[in-house]
Amino acid sequence: MINFVTSNKGKHIEAQAILGDLVQKDIGYVEIQADTLEEVALYGMKEVAARLQGPVMLEDAGLFVEALQGFPGVYSAYVQKTIGNAGILRLMEGQENRLAYFKSVVAFAEPGLGTVMFSGEVHGQIGFEPRGKKGFGYDPIFYVGDESLAEMDLEKKNQISHRAGSMRALKKWLDSR
Ligand code: IMP
Repeated sequence: MINFVTSNKGKHIEAQAILGDLVQKDIGYVEIQADTLEEVALYGMKEVAARLQGPVMLEDAGLFVEALQGFPGVYSAYVQKTIGNAGILRLMEGQENRLAYFKSVVAFAEPGLGTVMFSGEVHGQIGFEPRGKKGFGYDPIFYVGDESLAEMDLEKKNQISHRAGSMRALKKWLDSR
């Protein structure tokens, strides 16, 4: 049984659909300001692995918008909390280049073993309006084809998402041990 440290119920549901038995631990950890998701995850894991027994994982994700030079990227959580999806759409006004991607980095550790990390990405576009009520965070403004991630049910999002990519890579590694 793996402890998944996250306060985000949506993340937990998506990860659980791929990895099976996961225990959500909403215990919080320090998310440092760093240039990459990998650094944020690795630093967080040091704290979390010291506080919890047994196998543990955490995940850090971000939205990278090409026309905004990769913003909000590692600042995605803060930007979502402050200006939100409406703020991103405002920043994108008049922008023809709508290309963007999500990246997810999952870190896994267990006693006696160093931390391993896996990543996944999904490439798409920032839409012109929010659509859909499913998912969370930036899902309503991130489109893959004609559909926003918030219009997709869990099964469909989990076929294509950044998180599905990183979680599947972790699962493959766990299954092969
Ligand atoms: P964190 O990994 O929890 O730090 O996520 C950073 C920000 O990106 C948060 O505001 C999340 O809501 C958002 N985010 C992470 N994953 C997704 C996703 O799958 N869809 C939409 N927003 C996401």
